[in-house]
Amino acid sequence: MQRYETAYSDRPEQVRAVAWLAERVGAGARVLDVGCGSGVPTARQLVDTGMQVVGIDISPAMVSAACAAVPEAVFHNCDVLDFAESGFDGAVAFFSLLMLSRSDISRALSVLRGAIEPGGYLLLSMVEADLDDAPVKFLDTDVRVSGYHREDLHRVVEQAGFVVLETKVVSYIPAIDPADPEIHLYVFAQRPVQG
Ligand SMILES: C[S@@+](CC[C@H](N)C(=O)[O-])C[C@H]1O[C@@H](n2cnc3c(N)ncnc32)[C@H](O)[C@@H]1O
Repeated sequence: MQRYETAYSDRPEQVRAVAWLAERVGAGARVLDVGCGSGVPTARQLVDTGMQVVGIDISPAMVSAACAAVPEAVFHNCDVLDFAESGFDGAVAFFSLLMLSRSDISRALSVLRGAIEPGGYLLLSMVEADLDDAPVKFLDTDVRVSGYHREDLHRVVEQAGFVVLETKVVSYIPAIDPADPEIHLYVFAQRPVQG
């Protein structure tokens, strides 16, 4: 976790995306942070901009870290696929759904559509790649990841019942040596008010 935080600590586009969401939903809004990790920077930023934050993560260690870092928020040790709460004005899923297979990403997006109120927002970030549950080495650890090309990610998000407002494409170089440049996709989406 420490290596991840060092390598990916500086993500200005993610911080800008959260500011975009906070501006639209307003203080007091309920926001879900999916795969919240350590709670930093995102749950912290959401709380600091006046949001009521619920964070979920499948890792008990991450939930403990997030509870310590952002005591104002509520965190649950939970798989996004099992999440059953609703009534959120927005949800963010930064680099968390990439740890699911593509079929589970679609299921997770349906869960999030049910969690978000009509007119509410979804922010999703992924690494651009044509992969489905593929084994990769990540920071010297064996993990399985999925990804899409940008047009395919757009289609998958819309198939789950969202309207994609914008996709930002960001070149990113992690702060590790040697660093492989990555393309980060930030999808700004909305659950339609009707339908
Ligand atoms: C790469 S980290 C990103 C953490 C944080 N969102 C950030 O932007 O720094 C991915 C997180 O997603 C969590 N995660 C993976 N699969 C999940 C699932 N099915 N449900 C909930 N959380 C999950 C992991 O435990 C991990 O904390």
